[in-house]
Amino acid sequence: MSFLNEIEPMKEAALAELRKALDLSSLEQSKGSWVGPNGKFTALMKQLGSLSKEERPSAGKLINAAKAALEAALAARREELELKAALPKEPTDFTLPGRRRALGKLHPLTQVTDDTVRAFRKIGFAVADGPEIEDEYHCFDALNTPADHPARDSQDTFYLAKPTNPQLPSANSQLLRTHTSSVQIRVMEKQPPPIRIIVPGRVYRRDNADATHNPTFHQIEGLYVDKNVTVGDLKGTVEFVFKELMGGDVKIRFRPHYFSYTEPSYEIDFTNALVKKMGKDWLEIAGCGMVHPQVFENVGYNPEIWTGWAFGFGIERIAMLRYGINDIRLFYENDVRFLKQF
Ligand code: DAH
Repeated sequence: MSFLNEIEPMKEAALAELRKALDLSSLEQSKGSWVGPNGKFTALMKQLGSLSKEERPSAGKLINAAKAALEAALAARREELELKAALPKEPTDFTLPGRRRALGKLHPLTQVTDDTVRAFRKIGFAVADGPEIEDEYHCFDALNTPADHPARDSQDTFYLAKPTNPQLPSANSQLLRTHTSSVQIRVMEKQPPPIRIIVPGRVYRRDNADATHNPTFHQIEGLYVDKNVTVGDLKGTVEFVFKELMGGDVKIRFRPHYFSYTEPSYEIDFTNALVKKMGKDWLEIAGCGMVHPQVFENVGYNPEIWTGWAFGFGIERIAMLRYGINDIRLFYENDVRFLKQF
């Protein structure tokens, strides 16, 4: 067979073999056996030199065309095989259940706060806010609690060594607020009556942590100022909100108490099936009263015209009752096993 006649069948054989390669390594092997240094096609090309001058150009042309065809077939097959290698080994089962991402939850204290806010919004209360780093005036003095008042003892707190606000007079130290009642003053200083607000927020006391105390906890304050406001309004509002929060079987009662910023003052006792189950008749749950005339004087409201009531309660207390939690410290440990139960 002449040299020229050998090119075409060899090309066809090589192409067939390359196209048949089942994986990348056998493709590389076939490539070597045809166009590698010792390949059959390479050997054919080497013979080009022994051809006569007349035969050489057309043989060269044919060989180059065959070589280009081989390279194209090689590249195409390589791409197919690479794609095949990248596919999953096992067939995909689209009926398998998906992998779900675990959803987070709102902290139980956040849930109780949100529910309380929702209940008060229904009856026209707005949410107000104030600083956790408070000054002595707003936390105590303006609430009719001067420096020598015994109530300062039970609400001892953390004082800042250096004021963050250098404009404050030195007699007015900065401290971590002991209650949200300071926000009553801040709101009344800024706006004229009528006022209908609640204030959820974090408060601080110099308390040792135990099952029912923590140096940081949360309160919700309420303040209502208008003309002709009565204790009846206070009682009706509190009863409505606790029923919304804890269910229809809730009963509340007012007991006389003392707070320096209200007159008269009461403590609110609460009961429902849960309280009875704990073996108790009543549980003390909040403080409240009619806003003291001196407090109105302190914010520039005329106590002859304006009347109002205020209350404050601890959010942890409500959450512990609602969810049957027996240690307040559990709220702050961020243990997911605890938190995911609520
Ligand atoms: N500030 C009180 C406390 O932390 C709770 C309280 C009592 C708030 C009576 C009030 C109130 O607004 O009128 O124990």
